[in-house]
Amino acid sequence: MAETVFQKGTKEIRLADKAGFCFGVKNAVDKAFALLDECGASGERVFATGRLIHNRTVTDELEAKGLRTVGTPGEAEPGARILIRAHGEDAAFYETCRAAGLRIEDMTCPFVARIHSIAAEAHRSGRGVVIVGDAAHPEVIGIRGWAGEPCAVISNLPEAEAFLRDLPEEGGWTGVSQTTFIEENWDAITGLLKDALGERIELRNTICSATRERQEGCRELAGWADCMVVLGDPASANTKKLLSIAESVCPNAFFAENKTDLPLHIIAGYDKIGVAAGASTPERIIKEVISIMS
Ligand code: F3S
Repeated sequence: MAETVFQKGTKEIRLADKAGFCFGVKNAVDKAFALLDECGASGERVFATGRLIHNRTVTDELEAKGLRTVGTPGEAEPGARILIRAHGEDAAFYETCRAAGLRIEDMTCPFVARIHSIAAEAHRSGRGVVIVGDAAHPEVIGIRGWAGEPCAVISNLPEAEAFLRDLPEEGGWTGVSQTTFIEENWDAITGLLKDALGERIELRNTICSATRERQEGCRELAGWADCMVVLGDPASANTKKLLSIAESVCPNAFFAENKTDLPLHIIAGYDKIGVAAGASTPERIIKEVISIMS
């Protein structure tokens, strides 16, 4: 149930149920800060390939504490620590790190690691893997690396139809989802696959409960609100999905990264304002935004 965080006269602001950091992101961020403190004291270097989470405010703070970003593990200093991000990496990445003499600090979210296990197990037992998700997302690229071949990534119904057209007549498949995929789209795509493949496909809905809860909380709040503000980083897949859910229910939905890019003059024209936030949005940003709108 959304919580009322401000009320005065006709104006009310409610915060969506389960807004902000999910378990996996909080775990990765807390561990990274603790590691940087430890390594800062011992003089060890800490590297990451890309941003630890999709939130620039947090990653800027991590870099200020000494985290260095490199393009590939080979660019890190031998013997240094290397972080594996919450959305995981493929099996080859671990090998490359070991070969480069790096100490791995694995912050893969356990829900993502479970998908890696399902994909690897399907591959070992001779099944193809269908990943329902966005082929360009690092999480999906990581899962692909554990799935071997054959592997297909499907993000919409036309891609599902194309996959079915080109399919060999034999062979079993295991279907998994990107953790942040929209539930309705998973249902539509897998419904089509199940109708065509029947027992040849086993489906494992691996959309994470944190994603599901944030999407449900956002949808419910957007049904009440006459204006929705969705907070997060422009690169965050789960925040973009929250925005698309908010837009589908509420005609006035706005995206903001933090308090500085809020369209306050527009928001001030509405009475019932809902706030939702992606799984990589820190609580501090949510509080600042609510405070300035209040
Ligand atoms: Fe993990 Fe789910 Fe968050 S997969 S990183 S708890 S959105």
